[in-house]
Amino acid sequence: MISVHRGRYSCNVSLNFGLLKRVNAYLGEYLSKKSRNKESFSDNCFSRSSSNSSIVTEEGLFEQPEPLASGTALMEKILLRRSSLLRDQQQAWQESLEGREMLEFRQSLPAYKEKDTILTAILQNQVVIISGETGCGKTTQIPQFILESKIDSARGAFCSIICTQPRRISAISVSERVASERGEKLGESVGYKVRLEGIKGRDTRLLFCTTGILLRRLLVDRNLKGVTHVIVDEIHERGMNEDFLLIVLKDLLPRRPELKLILMSATLDAELFSSYFDGAPLIHIPGFTYPVRTHFLENILEMTGYRLTPSNQIDDYGQERMWKMSKQAPRKRKSQIVSSVEDALRAADFKDFSPQTQESLSCWNPDCIGFNLIEYLLSYICENERPGAVLVFMTGWDDISSLKDKLQAHPILGDPSRVLLLSCHGSMASSEQKLIFEEPEDGVRKIVLTTNIAETSITINDVVFVLDCGKAKETSYDALNNTPCLLPSWVSKVSTQQVRLLSDCMYDL
Ligand SMILES: Nc1ncnc2c1ncn2[C@@H]1O[C@H](COP(=O)(O)OP(=O)(O)O)[C@@H](O)[C@H]1O
Ligand SMILES: [Mg+2]
Repeated sequence: MISVHRGRYSCNVSLNFGLLKRVNAYLGEYLSKKSRNKESFSDNCFSRSSSNSSIVTEEGLFEQPEPLASGTALMEKILLRRSSLLRDQQQAWQESLEGREMLEFRQSLPAYKEKDTILTAILQNQVVIISGETGCGKTTQIPQFILESKIDSARGAFCSIICTQPRRISAISVSERVASERGEKLGESVGYKVRLEGIKGRDTRLLFCTTGILLRRLLVDRNLKGVTHVIVDEIHERGMNEDFLLIVLKDLLPRRPELKLILMSATLDAELFSSYFDGAPLIHIPGFTYPVRTHFLENILEMTGYRLTPSNQIDDYGQERMWKMSKQAPRKRKSQIVSSVEDALRAADFKDFSPQTQESLSCWNPDCIGFNLIEYLLSYICENERPGAVLVFMTGWDDISSLKDKLQAHPILGDPSRVLLLSCHGSMASSEQKLIFEEPEDGVRKIVLTTNIAETSITINDVVFVLDCGKAKETSYDALNNTPCLLPSWVSKVSTQQVRLLSDCMYDL
C-alpha cells in the first residue's frame, strides 16, 4: 500500500507484490546510478549552502538514510551491491597512478607498518588502545585501514565508523585529508560533522566529528544503532566532554557486543585507559617522525647575536591587556614562574657562551613573551634560512592578535609579497582556519601564529621552523572565584616533545 499525496488531496494506491518488487528494483538501480554520478554530487558538497542535500543538518546527521527496507532481505541486497561498487571504486583508485603515489606515501608512515597488527587486534578485541608519536599516522591511517579492509571484503556498505576529534578544525582538516588520500571528495565515503556544519553523503562510511557531536547523538540514540566502530582520538586531551564520553561508551559496550571501540593517543599514558577498559590491549606504533634540531634561548642569542635588555623585552599589549593580566594572574603565579626560572638559571652553566649572551640571559624577564625577539627571529628566518613555513606558538588569542599587528607593521614581515601571515585559533571560523593548510605562492613564506591546538591535533604539512614561546594556557582552578580558568603557564617537557616531533624546528625557549 502506497500513499500518494497531491496538493490537498490524498489517495491510497494498492500495488500487488510483483509490482512492488519492480518498484523496489528500480529504486535500487536509481540509487546505485546516483552513487556512480558522484562527481557532480560532491562538487556541490563544497558549496555548503543550506539548500544542498548533502549538507548535514543538526537533526539529520545521524538519521538512518534508508527509508526503504531496514532489516529486510532487499536491504541486504542493496547494501551488498553498494559494497561491491565501493570495492570497485577503491580498486580503481589504488590501481591509478595517483593512487599508487599516495599509497607509497602512506606506506612510509610508521602506522602503516603496524596495519596488520592493528586490524587483527581490532578483530579480536572489543576495545583497543593505540599510541604513537605525533605525525606517525594514527588519525589519518587507522580509520582508513578499517574502512579499506571492510571495503576490500565487500562489506563496505555495512560498516559505519565514527572518529571523534577534540576540535572542529581537526575534524574538518582530517576528513579532507583522508578523502583526498582515497581519491575522493568530501561527502563520498568520508565526511565530517561539527556543530552547525558538516558534509556527509548517503555513502559516507567514515565520519569525523567532534566529541560534543557524538555525545549529542548518544543523548538521542543510546545504543549508537548502525555504528560499527567508534574511534576516540587524542584521548590524552582530557576535558569534561572527553571523560564523559568514555564513561558513556564504557557503559554501552556490554549492550553492543559487536561494537568496536578504538582509543588513540599521542602520549604514553595509555596504560591508564587500558586499566579503565578492563585491561584492553595496547598497541604502540614505534618510529620517528621527523628529525628535529632544537635551539634554546641561549643558543638563539648566541647564533643571531641578538641582545636582551630590560627595555626591549616589554611586550606591547596595550592598556586593556595590562588590566586583564593584572586582574587574572595572581601575583603568586608570576613569582612562581620567575622563581622556577631563576632556579634553572642558577643551576645552568653558560660558561661556554659569549659574555654578550650571558649578559642577555642575566636580564631576561621570564614574565614576558618577548614580542621583539620573536619579530627579530622571524625576519632572521625570512632573510637567512631555507624555504619553509614557520609556526609560532603563542599563549592565546590576545597575544596572537597583538603580535600580528606588530608584525604587519614590519617592512619584511608585513609585506604580503614576501610573507603570508596567518593566525590559527579555536574560535576562528573554519573557512579562515583552512587557509593555514594551503601552500603559499613561490617566494612567499607562510607564517602561522597559533596556540597549542596545532601541537597534536592538526598537521600543517609545509612547516619547517617552529618558534615556541614556551608558555601555554592551561586549565587551572581559580579558588577565589570558584571557577576553572585558563592561565598562561610553562609548558611541560612532554608537550614540548610533541611539538618537537612535529617538524624540523627552531626553539625560542
Ligand atoms: N592535511 C594534510 N596534508 C598533507 N599531509 C598531511 C595532512 N595531514 C596529515 N598529513 C601527513 O600524514 C601524516 C600523518 O598524520 P596524522 O595521521 O595526523 O598523524 P597523527 O594522528 O599520528 O599525529 C603526517 O605526518 C603528514 O605527513
Ligand atoms: Mg592525530
